[in-house]
Amino acid sequence: MKVFESLRAWQAARREIHDSVGFVPTMGALHAGHLSLVDRSRQDNTTTVVSIFVNPTQFNNLDDLQKYPRHVNRDIELMQARGVDFLLLPNENEMYEDKYQFQMFEKSESKILCGAFRPGHFEGVLTVVMKLLNLAQADRCYMGEKDYQQLRLIQNMAKAFFMKTEIVGCPTVREPSGLAMSSRNERLTPAGRAHAAKLFEILSGAQDALHARRELERLDFKVDYVEEHWGRRLSAIWYEGVRLIDNVALDPKNEMRPSP
Ligand code: PAF
Repeated sequence: MKVFESLRAWQAARREIHDSVGFVPTMGALHAGHLSLVDRSRQDNTTTVVSIFVNPTQFNNLDDLQKYPRHVNRDIELMQARGVDFLLLPNENEMYEDKYQFQMFEKSESKILCGAFRPGHFEGVLTVVMKLLNLAQADRCYMGEKDYQQLRLIQNMAKAFFMKTEIVGCPTVREPSGLAMSSRNERLTPAGRAHAAKLFEILSGAQDALHARRELERLDFKVDYVEEHWGRRLSAIWYEGVRLIDNVALDPKNEMRPSP
């Protein structure tokens, strides 16, 4: 695996790659969910590119940014073992040479759910993903369904701007307890992690969003939202000071399953 810290050097190297390219953008602290995206990219493409960039502009809360787990050396080992070809590790100055002067805005779906509770979050996500997609010049980009609102917004942005990259949604990978894999899970205590698995159980089992909210509150979760959109029930909650999100298909027939 070749690691690029310099984006100029990467852009020069990219011009020499002529076969199909799959791309997995990440903020590091890789887990089995990320690795499933890498596996899918390797199945579909000749070359797989991963980026690790903890994007400051999508954190509306400084504490969350500072506490975001970082262990690049472990990530590099995981990706090498998984057969990733190129890793982009840009720094903030190079990513935002423009000092965040140019930004990507979406006017409707980015304002609900996580967008309503995290002002500026999706502007940060869409702007950095536009930059990353332009850098990767990939045929396909793989993203998890756990961040369902993010996935939809990026799919719609790529379509609106006639981008050449297909945005491929991949199923959420869960721990045996049902808890959706997330880098933020590392910040929970073992007991908190076990308790947080109730989120998936309640989202899947409750008769409607209101009942799901009541049940979550009864179990001491602080609930940002439980709402239904796009044939899915989506939620964001807080536990032990950690914000967790998840979503399920309202019709279980529409739930994507991770490949074995
Ligand atoms: O889902 C993430 O990890 C991030 O939002 C992304 C897409 C890498 C952009 O920073």
